[in-house]
This record gives sequence, C-alpha cells and structure tokens, in this order.
Amino acid sequence: MHARNNIFLIGFMGAGKSTIARYLHRKYGMKWLEMDKEIERKQGMSISEIFRLKGEEYFRGLETDLLLSLEGKEHTVVSCGGGVPLRDCNVEAMKKSGVIVFLTARPETILQRVKDSHDRPLLEGHKDVAYIAELLAGRQKKYEAAAELLAATDGRSAEEIGEEIYRRVGEIGEKQA
Ligand code: S3P
Repeated sequence: MHARNNIFLIGFMGAGKSTIARYLHRKYGMKWLEMDKEIERKQGMSISEIFRLKGEEYFRGLETDLLLSLEGKEHTVVSCGGGVPLRDCNVEAMKKSGVIVFLTARPETILQRVKDSHDRPLLEGHKDVAYIAELLAGRQKKYEAAAELLAATDGRSAEEIGEEIYRRVGEIGEKQA
C-alpha cells in the first residue's frame, strides 16, 4: 500500500462500517479501530451516556480529538461514527492519512440493520424509514464530498464489499506511486 495507507469507512449508521472493517482486519491483517468503541473506552461511558450526560456537541468534540490523535497511524482501517464527515476539519484530517470510502445503503436496508439495537441515541424512538431517509438526505452531500470511493452495500456480502474496497484502494495507491 501507499503513503496514505489507512482506510476510513464513512456512512450512515447501519451502513456496514464495522462489518467491513472487521473483514479487512481479518483478511488483510489491517489494524482495526472502531471510533465509537475507542471513545467509550477513553470516557468510561457508553455513547448513549455521553449524549445524555454531556450532549451531542461534546461527543462531536471527542470524535475530532480522536481523529487528530490518529496522526502517524498506518495500515489501519477506521470505522468512523456516522456523523464524523459532518465536520470539515475531520475530513481534512482523514484525507491526509488515508482513503475515505463511503458505504451506501438504502433507508430500508439501514432500518433492518439497526432496528434491534439501542446504542444509537439519534435513532431511539425514530426507527422508521421516513426518519432515516430524512436524516440521510441531510447528510448525503457531506458524505459524497468527503469520499474518494463509494461502495454500495445493499444485498451484498461483507466479502464482496471488502474485496472491492481493498482492490480499488490498491489501484489508487498504484496511480500515486
Ligand atoms: C452517529 C453514529 C454512531 C455514533 C453516534 C452518532 C451519527 O455511530 O457515533 O450514535 O451521528 O450518525 P455508527 O455510525 O457507528 O452507528
């Protein structure tokens, strides 16, 4: 791989970021970082508790701090929280050290993937297609503008998606070498 040899997976909640990060870790031995898990570990609180006790803005600050602290990391696949690309400074930090890949999924697919979990405060009480579609529409442009690659996930296996991403990121590296 090339100088920007990290992969940042972005996209809406339930787009499959963690699943694909795990695949690339297992198959290609990339180091794997889950932003939400890392924030929870450092704060000693769940994401839901951070939102409830400190508020969303505080959480967004923790995301930016974590991204900036990743400088110097290599061969790492980062599963970003769904809101990470909303801040331009986050996008700049990611572009410096890696390739940003946007995982897309239809609202119906997202609902199926998130409906049984309760660790996403933004979706609690709003587990319906209309709400997901609206929140997604508000973010779509930010996701697209941040990303160098786009990979659709609806109806596809982790293997198919992971292999496609690894190959295409490699091609970017060859062009830049
Ligand atoms: C969020 C996504 C979540 C988590 C937090 C906020 C968002 O991460 O960071 O609940 O704003 O989209 P996942 O995308 O990993 O679910």
